[in-house]
Amino acid sequence: MTTIQQPRILGAGVDRVDGPLKVTGQARYPNDVNLPGMAYAAVVRSTIPSGRITRMDTTAAEKSPGVLEVITHENADHLGEAPATFIKNPQPPLQDDAIRFYGQYIAVVVADTQQNATAAAGLIEVEYERHEAILDPHDPRAERIKDPWGEDTAWGDVRTALNRAPVMIDQTYTTSENTNNPLGLFTTLASWDGDTLTLHDSNQWPNMIQQVVAAMFGLPRDAVRVLTPFVGGGFGAGLRCWSHIPLAVMAARHVGRPVKLELTRPEMFTGLGHRTSSINWIRLGATRDGRLTAIEHESLTTLPLDGDEYEPCSSVSTWSYASPNVTARDQQVRLNIPWTNFMRAPGDAQGNFALESAIDELAWEVGLDPLEIRLLNYAEVDPKTGRPWSSNALRRCLEVGAQRFGWSNRNPEIGSMRDGHELVGYGVAGVSFFWYQQPCSAKVIVRGDGSAYVRSAVTDIGTGTYTIMAQLAAGLLGLEVDQVEMQLGDSSMPVGTAAGGSGLTAALGSAVHDACGRLIQKFVDLAGTDPFSPLANVPFEDVAVSEGRLFRKGDPTRGESLARILAVHGLTELSADGNSTPNSPDQLGMTPAGARGARFVEVRVDEDLGRVRVARIVTVNDGGRILNEKLARSQILGGTVGGVGMALFEDTVTDKDTGRIANATFGDYLIPVNADIPDVHVEFVGEPDAFNPIGVKGIGEIGLVGVAPAIANGIFHATGKRIRSLPITMDEVM
Ligand code: MOS
Repeated sequence: MTTIQQPRILGAGVDRVDGPLKVTGQARYPNDVNLPGMAYAAVVRSTIPSGRITRMDTTAAEKSPGVLEVITHENADHLGEAPATFIKNPQPPLQDDAIRFYGQYIAVVVADTQQNATAAAGLIEVEYERHEAILDPHDPRAERIKDPWGEDTAWGDVRTALNRAPVMIDQTYTTSENTNNPLGLFTTLASWDGDTLTLHDSNQWPNMIQQVVAAMFGLPRDAVRVLTPFVGGGFGAGLRCWSHIPLAVMAARHVGRPVKLELTRPEMFTGLGHRTSSINWIRLGATRDGRLTAIEHESLTTLPLDGDEYEPCSSVSTWSYASPNVTARDQQVRLNIPWTNFMRAPGDAQGNFALESAIDELAWEVGLDPLEIRLLNYAEVDPKTGRPWSSNALRRCLEVGAQRFGWSNRNPEIGSMRDGHELVGYGVAGVSFFWYQQPCSAKVIVRGDGSAYVRSAVTDIGTGTYTIMAQLAAGLLGLEVDQVEMQLGDSSMPVGTAAGGSGLTAALGSAVHDACGRLIQKFVDLAGTDPFSPLANVPFEDVAVSEGRLFRKGDPTRGESLARILAVHGLTELSADGNSTPNSPDQLGMTPAGARGARFVEVRVDEDLGRVRVARIVTVNDGGRILNEKLARSQILGGTVGGVGMALFEDTVTDKDTGRIANATFGDYLIPVNADIPDVHVEFVGEPDAFNPIGVKGIGEIGLVGVAPAIANGIFHATGKRIRSLPITMDEVM
């Protein structure tokens, strides 16, 4: 077999710098922090989806052992409006008697122990006036929002193209609600000191929590400090300031003690949002040889009554493949449900399932290999604007993946690759992920001993930010990785963006890049003022950095260590601030392309039972420059598991009568276990991306995307059954 040669885009797979802290229990997650005099809170949630509270009896709860305080809408503090941060945040809790979804917080109980708080919370009696709830997206009474983000897109003339297309696919694809379920139970420990407030809090964006809490409690921003050095996963769940956070803050103020509020697993289902279900209507027009002439993609997703959400399922159809005529439109519908929220690859995950299923259907319709049809319709340039991509290795992902997988061994005939009583199917899907980057800042400091530390308010949600930023800074400062200490997850540090949208590495990395450049400049300037320095009169452009030393390019002997420059000038440290703002596509004349990928899956379907087993997965991704091969691989592996979950297991079931989430535990909400996950081959291709100075595209989310359609497409190859709804269940396959 000839091996495809890859350019060097992979950074060293060094172990996590925070690994030892985590495995020895020294990493303090918000849950782990205990403060002297701390009290514990438990929440009470509504048991109807719509209506009003008419009476609450808290007498028994107040008399219960250890109880310090019971707060309901009748005695809650009046809080200020929650500002939008990129997107809406829930308005402060307990401000009125209205019930908008089942599971809404209606009281918080504070006691000396968690057990006492939880026991007392169960003693509160509530009477409601029930209103009819709207729980079905097709309910005509439900409020519909067209073009919610002003991003509906169209070019060419889709109607005419579809009418004239010799071949057409017209199908509906649906995905179920999923819940993020990070392992670490979200916790807020609120502690007041006079008019200043400290929060140890599980989230993905400390500065956002700081901003929202400050606004609600009428505090200046710097009176609120949010600490999130570690968080037990997020998957998008930590991207808003959820209502339990102000509840903990309010409770701490009421009892005059620090208060810890740790959500339970069922509360995580209603309190942190979930991935919306989606309906995708897709119409593809094509020539007889499989070339796309039209894509029409419309989606409908759900919203809570008083929230918003960015979930543009149809947008994948505007950048994945070349088509002269495209329409992409999204709609949302408001229901009496808990908040819908970002969950790993919001919009893309669902939209990609629909598009990549439809492309597969088209391949069968025109008699083309499902791999070939994707290569045939590869978008050489941005199909919307005609501009070049900042990078796009989708073709390469497909080619390399096919080779690693052994796609050429596929017998195209349905049901032809039998192995005993199992029907074997090969499925493929392409992935084109959105691009996202937000402003970010960082500070880099070199100490007197020549070591460095980097500070930013952002948090590492377990993806490896501590490690890859230490690697990046070490490379830029000419230090070893273990000479760079990372300090993250504190809102008082330089303002940082969200660990979300797969955009943190580009945003923070570009800020670290900027700070390191400025810091080296400062060292060069300092050396320049020292007539005895070997670097006197050497211009910045001619200076290189390695092994803790600055030296003249091409003449390593002519240089000076960072430590020595500081010593000569009597400095204990030297620092520089760095900022990054996303480049402008117009100025660069290119379209920033998010990560690209290809999934190849072998499924085995039990002929008698309809049981689907995923036997092999090859996942090839273009993330631009990869800062750490090992962590990137882990990230893709985790995403792949999430993709298998979305395809075959995950389904947040809402009872259509009560609005209650019926499976809000890890016993009832199915996720893949080890035995469900096969051998996964992970590979990276591509080249450094041209859009930011460090050449990265985020890979936090792409691993999940495309797994579900590849599995569904494999099931079709195995059985001839086209399944257009997720999760795929045995009864549908039978
Ligand atoms: Mo991701 S859903 O932006 O954490």
